[in-house]
Amino acid sequence: MTGLVVAMDGPSGSGKSSVSRGVARALGLRYLDTGAMYRAMTWWMLREGVDLADPAAIAARSGEPVIVAATDPDAPAIHVDGVDVGGPIREAEVTGAVSAVAAVPEVRARLVALQREVVGAGGIVVEGRDIGSVVCPDAPVKIYLTASAEARARRRSAELAGTTVEAQQEALARRDTLDSTRKTDPLSMADGAIELDTTAFSLDEVIAEVLRLVKERV
Ligand code: DC
Repeated sequence: MTGLVVAMDGPSGSGKSSVSRGVARALGLRYLDTGAMYRAMTWWMLREGVDLADPAAIAARSGEPVIVAATDPDAPAIHVDGVDVGGPIREAEVTGAVSAVAAVPEVRARLVALQREVVGAGGIVVEGRDIGSVVCPDAPVKIYLTASAEARARRRSAELAGTTVEAQQEALARRDTLDSTRKTDPLSMADGAIELDTTAFSLDEVIAEVLRLVKERV
């Protein structure tokens, strides 16, 4: 399986992280969560007090933070300038701000380059929004995961304390709109990607289907 790259794209709450980690584990591959890198960049910008309403200010500082992602599917971790930010990047402040940071072309150029370095010679499952289209367009297996807006909101609210399905559905809709209408590398289905709607399936069923697709194509 060395050399294999599985590109896993889709909107928030479609099940990308759980499916990607399960597939990586089953095949003995590494796992890269590119969303965590955009979140880490956002955490750093907030800490530095960068004005996130000003794309030029974000662009000007985007080369500074040192972002390191660990790729063990059983222990994914992310550090910024040596600080473990695995917890803070999932909090509401970062989640609410990340789309603005991820829309800045200089941020994307820097993180795409970093992601390609991590992918290297392959042997990895990579999840994000633009993996099959931009980061790894030659990946032999490209999956586009979807689920109904309600199912996605239900999954997110089960993961987070103190929120409702309705609030999550609104937050996801807002983030989807920002992520799919931005000018640089918007969320879209890559050429050659296979769409899997996970609404009616369990995690194990979706993982089994992806493993079947990998066997068929590799
Ligand atoms: O998958 P996630 O929710 O952790 O992603 C966080 C944000 O990062 C999401 O709003 C879109 C952005 N993102 C992106 O633009 N490109 C990627 N490859 C991954 C995430």
